[in-house]
Amino acid sequence: MGAVRGGAAGEKGAAEPCPCACAERVDAPAGEADTCAIVVAGGSGERFGDPRGKQFVDLAGLPLMCWSVAALDRAPSVARIVVVCAPDRVAEVEQDVLGRLTLSKPVTLAPSGATRQASVRSGLDATPRDLDLVAVHDAARPLVETELVERAIAVVRADETLAGALLATRCVDTLKLVEGTTVVATPDRSFYWAAQTPQVFRRRVLLAAHKAAEHEEYQGTDDASLVERVGGRVCVVESTRDNLKVTVPEDLAIAEATLERRLLS
Ligand code: CTP
Ligand code: MG
Repeated sequence: MGAVRGGAAGEKGAAEPCPCACAERVDAPAGEADTCAIVVAGGSGERFGDPRGKQFVDLAGLPLMCWSVAALDRAPSVARIVVVCAPDRVAEVEQDVLGRLTLSKPVTLAPSGATRQASVRSGLDATPRDLDLVAVHDAARPLVETELVERAIAVVRADETLAGALLATRCVDTLKLVEGTTVVATPDRSFYWAAQTPQVFRRRVLLAAHKAAEHEEYQGTDDASLVERVGGRVCVVESTRDNLKVTVPEDLAIAEATLERRLLS
């Protein structure tokens, strides 16, 4: 683990309109490559059920996680990438994932942990201190668009009071709070967003949040929740439902169809 593959840092990014819910313009400074991407690929994919692990199944001719790594590699603000994987899958990641891609950024491998949170922490420990921002991304979200990655990074970079920003979509279904099978409330849907990745943070804030969570034995389902717990302000960047997390086998067909649609458009 810890092997670094070669590559050059990215080029300069441009100022972006504010994509968060506030709908103001953000005149972000031209972004230098200040972000380390962390791609977490150390899960066992139990709900998906394929013995290879969902991150390695074929998606449009490549192992599924290739698409996430490639999308982050194309982001001009991303200077390098840490891929977190199970120690016994390192050779497979080297050959079948990294070996199939022509990447322009250096890649480091880090060992996964028993939980997603532990895997992110391991990846975070492998990020260089001189990059201010980290973008944590699920390998299982192969359809992430580079433009949205850049927007989330630009939002955090532009506002020093912000600890982080995450891609999210507005909830479209009516939500029910249910106890057992009894509906106890119908909350106002307009306040609810479905969280995705990447989630972009100031590196030192995310590290402090992970250390606090570990100390307090708190397990969150995403990184933003850890940062929120320690008082960090996190904002949403509106994403699309295309950026689905491949969780069950049906999701793979949807991902494949979306990729085909993109190739044809
Ligand atoms: N992940 C990880 N380390 C873990 C658990 C999850 O790096 N110990 C990664 C997965 O590989 C995935 C992402 O976190 O890219 C989101 O997790 P999820 O979709 O839940 O994937 P799995 O945990 O693999 O799937 P399942 O929960 O169905 O077992
Ligand atoms: Mg899981």
